[in-house]
Amino acid sequence: MTSPDIDWNLLRERARASAAKAYAPYSHVTVGAAALASTGAIVEGSNIENASYGLTLCAECSLVSDLTRSGGGRLVAVAVVAGDGEPIAPCGRCRQVLYEHGGPNVLIDGGEGQSPITLSELLPLAFGPDDLGTRSNA
Ligand code: THU
Repeated sequence: MTSPDIDWNLLRERARASAAKAYAPYSHVTVGAAALASTGAIVEGSNIENASYGLTLCAECSLVSDLTRSGGGRLVAVAVVAGDGEPIAPCGRCRQVLYEHGGPNVLIDGGEGQSPITLSELLPLAFGPDDLGTRSNA
């Protein structure tokens, strides 16, 4: 699926709707994510904070949970927005989480009027599932 086939406006709208469902009583930074899966499904996620701050689930974690639970497939294109509706950069941990489920060519929304970028630009030289097979001593 090439970038022109992707309805970025729809993904942004779904991400904004997901941000409105976030549970963020501590930071008050609500985040929503929406992605096109290789199955054609659109999956969504919201951040879910915790009183033990480090246990917070980012919107992208919630997104991949939705991906797996709703039939799987690979991530093709991902939009992540904050509560103001504008794109927010995926944190380092979430870049790795997205990599697991989409690989280096997943497209990440650059915002309205901007070209998407690939996950490999956000996470160069990534460690991934292939490294487990080739680097194990077993
Ligand atoms: N957050 C996400 O949901 N995704 C990111 O990639 C960046 C950060 C959330 C976590 C926390 O609830 C809030 O934003 C502030 O860090």
